[in-house]
Amino acid sequence: MIMSLPTLQSMLNEYADGWHTRRLRSLFDLAPNRAAEFTVEAAGLTLDYSKNHIDAKIRDALLNLAAASGLSAKIEGLFTGAMLNRTEQRAVLHTALRAAPSETPTAVASEVAAVKQRMRELVTALHTGQWRGHTGLAITDVVNIGIGGSHLGPQLACAALRDNHVPQLQVHFVSNVDGGDIASQLTRLDPARTLFIVASKSFATPETALNARTAERWLQARLADPAANPRHFIAITAHPDRAVKFGIARENVLPMWDWVGGRYSLWSAIGLPIALAVGMDSFEAMQAGAASMDRHFRSAPSATNLPVLLALVGIWNTNYLGAETLAVVPYDERLFYLPSYLQQLEMESNGKRVLESNTLVSGHTAPILWGGLGTNVQHAFFQLLHQGTRLIPVDFVLALHNPRSPPGHHDMLIANCLAQAEALMCGRTREEAVATSANVPGIDLPLHRATAGNQPSNMLVMEALTPATFGALLALYEHKTFVQGVIWGINSFDQWGVELGKELAQSLLNEIETAQVGAHDSSTTALLQRYLRARQSVE
Ligand code: F6P
Repeated sequence: MIMSLPTLQSMLNEYADGWHTRRLRSLFDLAPNRAAEFTVEAAGLTLDYSKNHIDAKIRDALLNLAAASGLSAKIEGLFTGAMLNRTEQRAVLHTALRAAPSETPTAVASEVAAVKQRMRELVTALHTGQWRGHTGLAITDVVNIGIGGSHLGPQLACAALRDNHVPQLQVHFVSNVDGGDIASQLTRLDPARTLFIVASKSFATPETALNARTAERWLQARLADPAANPRHFIAITAHPDRAVKFGIARENVLPMWDWVGGRYSLWSAIGLPIALAVGMDSFEAMQAGAASMDRHFRSAPSATNLPVLLALVGIWNTNYLGAETLAVVPYDERLFYLPSYLQQLEMESNGKRVLESNTLVSGHTAPILWGGLGTNVQHAFFQLLHQGTRLIPVDFVLALHNPRSPPGHHDMLIANCLAQAEALMCGRTREEAVATSANVPGIDLPLHRATAGNQPSNMLVMEALTPATFGALLALYEHKTFVQGVIWGINSFDQWGVELGKELAQSLLNEIETAQVGAHDSSTTALLQRYLRARQSVE
């Protein structure tokens, strides 16, 4: 029998009632097989979600919630080009970029294949030195200029796959409009050997435009020949005419399409810096890993579906247990940028309050996503997780092998990761603390040393971090985000909230450039006037 959403929601609220008085560790005492019962595998990834406040009946109710939200039809729509982004009237088809040719929707198959072919040719030309700079020297450095989805995914991937890098090229990233970003990168580069990729889906992002213009000026200041630009600038955009108007040679513009959201665009030509860093074969291996997660997501029943389960655990923690944040902690230096990439993926996608039905959401949507690298963060914010006052779910991510790790390191890394997950779940009771506490007069030391435990966590495990498992990891989080959006009833593919800040920044920039302060609140006016005085004092 299919239950209605309100019935399921009130059932889940009942199950959640008084959850904090129940010990997570006691769930393990009750069911010796718990770890196996709450572990799923797909596409080279294992998700152990047993250290959550979930039992079989809660999981069933959550699975019913997904079904009652119409998840199956939405998943099918995601793979068949349905217009899921209704506020922008766009289909959502990023999965088509990584599908095997036989599985690519026919409407886009030939365009996708053609762009991949162009990427392959470019990568070969740059790796073999066939593509040279204006003065005839081989290109040794590539600078990706882009922001948001045109930066975070490629930057994460280049760092994650550093063991696969080719020796010929160094890839760098400039995103921030803070001039310190580009200035510090340029000082280390030789213009005759540098290629810039201007990556912008819209080709209307002011930060990227200014950085690209600064790069062009830097190049011209040294090579002093406008004919040099075509050997040193490539653009990737869904608006080729804007790139050409900007001054990029038309033959150097690689297209993308409006059916690829910015935060899902690393699978498109926006991934060119990745392909340049690791080679086209490794880039395609990454796509194949993602495609294998796609197939699993599309075909596996919800009860064994990794993205669906990861999403449901998040829904449970956010909407029923009241967690406000999600910490993502990879125990792998190569995944340094994973939390910031996921911040855009999850928070830009699901940081919404308006339902698809044009009404306001009643509970919470996306949690605040944050995190950092284990083991470093154990010596930074983990104290708050162990003894602070908030419920903070954690996603741990780890690879079982790292061939580049010197002896002893990987054992210690893994021991720390597992220890943290165990300690967060079990805590240390007062009784346990008494046994090991010194007697300090006037201080109840066992009370200070006890930790509450009961913090939920997921453990995401892969054999090794390879292009394929890395691709699967990203696809897992993409689909998790999608499932949560479906259950919350929001459009995960627009980002109207970002627009207001952009508009205000443009009008404040006009005021700064003309030194004419417009009508603002007194705080903004005072700060603007102060900046204008500071600006004048250095002119
Ligand atoms: O931050 C808003 C946003 O529109 C993102 O969605 C996008 O990834 C980013 O700006 C950059 O946009 P573009 O690739 O068009 O320069």
